[in-house]
Amino acid sequence: MLQINNLYKNYGKFKAVKNLSLHIPKGDLFGFVGPNGAGKTTTIRIMCGLMLPSAGSVTINGVDALTHQKEIKRQIGYVPDFFGVYDNLKVREYMDFYGSMYRMGSREIQKLSDDLLELVNLSDKKEVFVDTLSRGMKQRLCVARALLHNPALLVLDEPNSGLDPRARVEMKELLLNLRGMGKTIVISSHILSELSEMCNSIGIMDHGTLVASGRIEDVMDSVFGNDQLIITLEEGRDTAVRIANEHAGVKVASVGEQELKLTHSLTKQEIAGMIGEMIAAGVLVTGFHKQEGSLETLFMRVTENEEQKGGTENAVKSSH
Ligand SMILES: Nc1ncnc2c1ncn2[C@@H]1O[C@H](COP(=O)(O)OP(=O)(O)OP(=O)(O)O)[C@@H](O)[C@H]1O
Ligand SMILES: [Mg+2]
Repeated sequence: MLQINNLYKNYGKFKAVKNLSLHIPKGDLFGFVGPNGAGKTTTIRIMCGLMLPSAGSVTINGVDALTHQKEIKRQIGYVPDFFGVYDNLKVREYMDFYGSMYRMGSREIQKLSDDLLELVNLSDKKEVFVDTLSRGMKQRLCVARALLHNPALLVLDEPNSGLDPRARVEMKELLLNLRGMGKTIVISSHILSELSEMCNSIGIMDHGTLVASGRIEDVMDSVFGNDQLIITLEEGRDTAVRIANEHAGVKVASVGEQELKLTHSLTKQEIAGMIGEMIAAGVLVTGFHKQEGSLETLFMRVTENEEQKGGTENAVKSSH
């Protein structure tokens, strides 16, 4: 669907995007994360044909986005990070205005805009002035407007910034709904927990470099490496450590008072076998569970590594 190859963007001497390559398959809900100034908006604007890169290529459904900007704009709905000011424009007029830019007939606009306003839950605001809408409503209106020409790809630059928790949940539901309708969606955000709840793939950017990308599970695996297992126990800690150490592919990461942390490359059956051995040897095991890496930890890990390395050589990349 979207393919970016070796993208660079310099603002004068400043390198805002450095050798970024990325593939987003059709139907993905892709989360773009990274600290302030990482280069997300720059990449997004190039992706949407609003800015030219210094080098590299962007293709959408096989069409070169840089040389066919008009065609590309038909395929993309863009929700910018800044809403803009619309004095004296009512919600319906706002939709009409954008609809007419796509040269749609007024009947078509009316029908579509009614449907879209319903989709984003703004049907009862048609006669309200845009500037008086709440921030969450403005964001949803912006999504409705971006969908007017039925684009295959929807790109949203921080649609959740400044939204209260309820508005965020509504936005999340709207995006999941749109994904269900077959749209491919790219969303940038700082709110990692939210992205991990709705996205199936992510790209983490730091200082202009894409430090990790791919399906969330794959990126997690490639960063966290072996699975982590936590065993809680009442008695027999030393025996448990001994048994764990006897298994190839198991490393004892830490030993607490009543807790053992292991990293391992065992199958589920092998784990069950090892726990069975511990119990048979008299260890009082009270529980065990897999430690799930969070997107937060992942983010800290890859951005931190990047600083330590001071370069991009070992950037973790996994493609689809
Ligand atoms: N028009 C411009 N001229 C010069 N430098 C720019 C311009 N636009 C962006 N930059 C710089 O490029 C870098 C990347 O900016 P960008 O807006 O792409 O980051 P971002 O990841 O979207 O950040 P944020 O999370 O704050 O939105 C920043 O250091 C920024 O200062
Ligand atoms: Mg930005």
